[in-house]
Amino acid sequence: MEIDVFTLFPKWFEWFEAQRHVRNAIEAGTRLRYVDFRAHTPLSGGQVDDTPFGGGAGMVLRVDVMDAALRAHYGMDATEARNHRRVIALTPGGRELDERYVSELAQEPAITLLCGRYEGFDERIVEHYAGETLSIGRYVLAGGELAAMVVCDAVLRKLPGALGHESSAAEESFSETLGGAPEYPHYTRPAEYRGWSVPEVLLSGHHERIREWRAEQSARRRDGD
Ligand SMILES: C[S@@+](CC[C@H](N)C(=O)[O-])C[C@H]1O[C@@H](n2cnc3c(N)ncnc32)[C@H](O)[C@@H]1O
Repeated sequence: MEIDVFTLFPKWFEWFEAQRHVRNAIEAGTRLRYVDFRAHTPLSGGQVDDTPFGGGAGMVLRVDVMDAALRAHYGMDATEARNHRRVIALTPGGRELDERYVSELAQEPAITLLCGRYEGFDERIVEHYAGETLSIGRYVLAGGELAAMVVCDAVLRKLPGALGHESSAAEESFSETLGGAPEYPHYTRPAEYRGWSVPEVLLSGHHERIREWRAEQSARRRDGD
């Protein structure tokens, strides 16, 4: 899989790439690339944004700057890129990221994440260059970089080789194996701590009963009991 992130702050991702599961995914063949808007801006002084027409606070990421970055990176008209890969503008009001959306993206051979800053994108970027908008939740971050990391993290751990144990991703919260429900509780040693005991069934070694208990706990969490 190939993930391209268009951003004003590519350095932010150095920390992200140093994390074990991300390194694993890269070693297994995933390609992460970062495109700095400033490296491609046609404007002088590294300008990438401008004041909003109609007035108001903040600065808006310019459409010609996005155009130049997409064109330089993909070597085609910027409107064409979304015909070759999923181009996603990160916006607070976009389609909310959930397990289904993550699984959908993990099936793609190539995605592009566009990170906004300041007041956000000139709307023509969303209309003409992106094929969709994605929100990591109904709150507003200062920029799209953390949102891009959330998307990459959730997608990468679905790819083969990213996690140490493949079963960790197969049976976890919201997975098909659990019928879309949150995961059951886990416990480890010590079995008794400050009078808090681990549920007896988990120490029984009885796999069928453990499986039933876990399914029941998962369903209770789904139902909010
Ligand atoms: C300060 S925000 C812009 C907010 C915009 N003026 C609004 O009210 O919707 C700057 C950038 O951060 C990113 N961003 C902020 N919150 C986000 C979220 N919840 N999900 C995805 N991206 C987000 C987007 O790329 C956005 O363009």
